[in-house]
Amino acid sequence: MKLMVIGGGGREHAVIRKLKENPAVTEIYALPGNGGIAADATCVPIGAKDIEGIVRFARENAIDYAVVTPDDPLVLGCVDALEAVGVPCFGPCAKAAAIEGSKVFAKDLMKKYGIPTAAYQSFSDMDEALRFLDTAPMPTVVKADGLALGKGVIIAKTRAEAKAAVVEMMRDHKFGKSGDKIVIEEYLEGPEVSVLAFTDGKTVVPMVSSMDHKRAGDNDTGLNTGGMGTVAPNPCYTEAIAARCMEEIFLPTIRAMNLEGRTFKGCLYFGLMLTKNGPRVIEYNCRFGDPETQVVLPLLESDLLTIMRAVTEGRLSEVEVRFRRQYACCVILASRGYPEHYEKGFPLTIPEAVRGHVYVAGAALKDGELVTSGGRVLGCTAVADTLPQAIAQAYALAGQIRFENAYCRTDIGQRALRALWGE
Ligand code: AMP
Ligand code: GLY
Repeated sequence: MKLMVIGGGGREHAVIRKLKENPAVTEIYALPGNGGIAADATCVPIGAKDIEGIVRFARENAIDYAVVTPDDPLVLGCVDALEAVGVPCFGPCAKAAAIEGSKVFAKDLMKKYGIPTAAYQSFSDMDEALRFLDTAPMPTVVKADGLALGKGVIIAKTRAEAKAAVVEMMRDHKFGKSGDKIVIEEYLEGPEVSVLAFTDGKTVVPMVSSMDHKRAGDNDTGLNTGGMGTVAPNPCYTEAIAARCMEEIFLPTIRAMNLEGRTFKGCLYFGLMLTKNGPRVIEYNCRFGDPETQVVLPLLESDLLTIMRAVTEGRLSEVEVRFRRQYACCVILASRGYPEHYEKGFPLTIPEAVRGHVYVAGAALKDGELVTSGGRVLGCTAVADTLPQAIAQAYALAGQIRFENAYCRTDIGQRALRALWGE
């Protein structure tokens, strides 16, 4: 089977490694992939947003199955375009990807179907939003409607901060069209949990839960990033909470999307906050999370391609989705300065012995050698029987990798350990 994976980050590297375990796979193309992914797939210089280029490549190369992982191509209708020319895909159609593509859509869906989430108001008029903020309780959360590379969420402690965020989004167009509409929502507190779930629109099968570390600095300080590390499973997510999420959130979301004529097939990501009043949806993503995938897939015992094809064909209930009862930890090595300004182009050395545990996110090949090419450069993942072992092993892996200006958080997993030990 000839597969094509759209995207070029650490998440795609993890997906490709897992897909390769299936003996029926003869070839995997990554569009565009990256210098590190090139060790596991044939990288093709076609961007993830170049829908026409992707479709042309799939036809010319007789691709049997496509996996579309990033948000942009999904929201742009990459799956619709590929299916129109007969290429079966893993990933939602554009209408279903709106669950991530528009925060206003997602919030209105939750309100209409009684799915627990933060109280909110949406606005397309700036003056109205500013007036609302005169009396809204603080802190509050201001969110740009559309995709904004994870940066379109501002937690404002004061009215002045909240108003400044509204003005930046709606008048100064800091996130382009993504800020034409905004959501202002209630500030919630509690541990956060990421749950990725396979769904074919009929059955929903949650994967092992995970915990992201979004802030750039230790002890959750500094700017929000795409994610500096993850652990799985998330110790805050007990079986009782999981059962409640299934009844109150996962199944109602799948039903709601069906009733709206937007059946979701693929991986649906539930970003949850466990508040003292119960679990609440903070966000939906229409795709695998990054770097959640780098800890979730290494724990997946079942064959990924078999599950994905069952999702596409609407027979997810017939396949086994089993996870190892172990722990995984992923430590991201980034370029110092990320998520703002950083230098790239530095030689990157990954010893042969650890390559199998490294997922490359931002590296290019230059004269046959790897050089850094992004903010998040790579993730080191370890799987072990206990969480402390997984954390220690992931850091031991990270210690063996060299590039100039390398930076990582030193406390990945510590919050999970505190939860595990009941502190
Ligand atoms: P997002 O980009 O939607 O993942 O949001 C980024 C982060 O902002 C989340 O991981 C939360 O930590 C935080 N956040 C988003 N919405 C809320 C909320 N209503 N209350 C408190 N924190 C929030
Ligand atoms: N790690 C969060 C995300 O993928 O959006």
